[in-house]
Amino acid sequence: MKGKILVTGGAGYIGSHTAVELIKSGYEVVIVDNLSNSRAEVIDSIQKITGTKPSFYNFDLCDAEKLSGFFKAEKGITGIIHFAASKAVGESVQKPLLYYRNNLNSLINLIDQMKVNSIPDLVFSSSCTVYGQPDKLPVTEDTPFKTAESPYGNTKQICEEIMQDVAKVNDDLNFIALRYFNPVGAHESAEIGELPLGVPANLVPFITQTAAGIRKELSVFGDDYDTSDGTAVRDYIHVVDLAEAHVKAMDRMIGKKQKRNYEYFNVGTGNGTSVLEVIKTFERVTNQKLNYKIVDRRPGDVVKIYANTDLANNELGWKASLGIDQMMADAWRWQKKVSNI
Ligand code: NAD
Ligand code: WQD
Repeated sequence: MKGKILVTGGAGYIGSHTAVELIKSGYEVVIVDNLSNSRAEVIDSIQKITGTKPSFYNFDLCDAEKLSGFFKAEKGITGIIHFAASKAVGESVQKPLLYYRNNLNSLINLIDQMKVNSIPDLVFSSSCTVYGQPDKLPVTEDTPFKTAESPYGNTKQICEEIMQDVAKVNDDLNFIALRYFNPVGAHESAEIGELPLGVPANLVPFITQTAAGIRKELSVFGDDYDTSDGTAVRDYIHVVDLAEAHVKAMDRMIGKKQKRNYEYFNVGTGNGTSVLEVIKTFERVTNQKLNYKIVDRRPGDVVKIYANTDLANNELGWKASLGIDQMMADAWRWQKKVSNI
């Protein structure tokens, strides 16, 4: 056993895929999730894939007393991967306090407990949203943050600053922030995947739900951008590749390979793909005809962003291996399973 890892938000989309990869690589996994955006059955699905059922605790990480009690009950945690957060950009504009409270307090409570329980290592879910629209592409880690477009984006910037400040004065605490680009797809078993509540805000779940007949039509937000086909460009990354990056980050921490006790890495493929390219790939790979129309730009959208991943490739020894075809095939397999198609 390599170590015992607390995976917060482990019943969620990226957390569940990471729990699978951690178990596969020899870690013990303990999940804390309040199921505010996920379902308890995910824990059984992780067991189906791996043959191992992670321990599961259902409570809110913002409850400092419960969190302290958890660490007293569950001895021997060696590291933390912190996924739990509220993540809907639009909702964060409507309910900023919910986002600041949940995303900041959960991290602060965890850091308090790292100190109390001498747990040295934490991997944090950050986002390419910290960069806004970068001036130069591909975007490297030393690109300065732009003013956040949303309270959600601001929480990611503030959380990174909190970890950086804490790391400066606590040599015994180590942090790695992974800045995810656009995670899509699902585990190839179709046992776990993304389960958006209500109408999806993100492109790929909206595509798969449209193909499944749940949505009538996909709206493509703008075709007059300065890109090859006029639609916006993103760096889509398969969620299993992303999950593997967390294992590499944790390996780096337990192997004491960090160069500084606060590090941050871009986690993307390095490829930019336009909305129309995503749609065409989905249609080709799945043999589905997608009903879509071009509408106005979505306010706040960046035009084009994709990662320079040299740092993660060289330092973490990690590289994305699954391409956009696989992402679409796996996203569709998952949708078909969820929709009984
Ligand atoms: P998700 O909503 O599927 O998973 C988050 C999980 O955390 C959910 O299961 C939810 O129930 C749980 N949770 C939320 N607040 C909690 C709390 N206070 N206490 C206990 N559990 C709580 O989201 P995801 O897509 O898996 O995202 C995971 C992380 O990655 C988040 O921090 C998110 O901001 C970040 N991220 C996501 C994306 C993306 O596009 N999905 C991109 C960049 C960064
Ligand atoms: C991708 C592209 C849309 C839906 C968001 C967050 C970001 C990060 C990842 C967490 C854009 C277009 C979308 C639709 C469309 N999350 N689109 N029709 O906006 O890059 O990033 O998720 O950290 O913070 O902002 O992802 O999937 O919403 O959009 O045309 O119905 O698809 O305009 O160009 P985005 P997305």
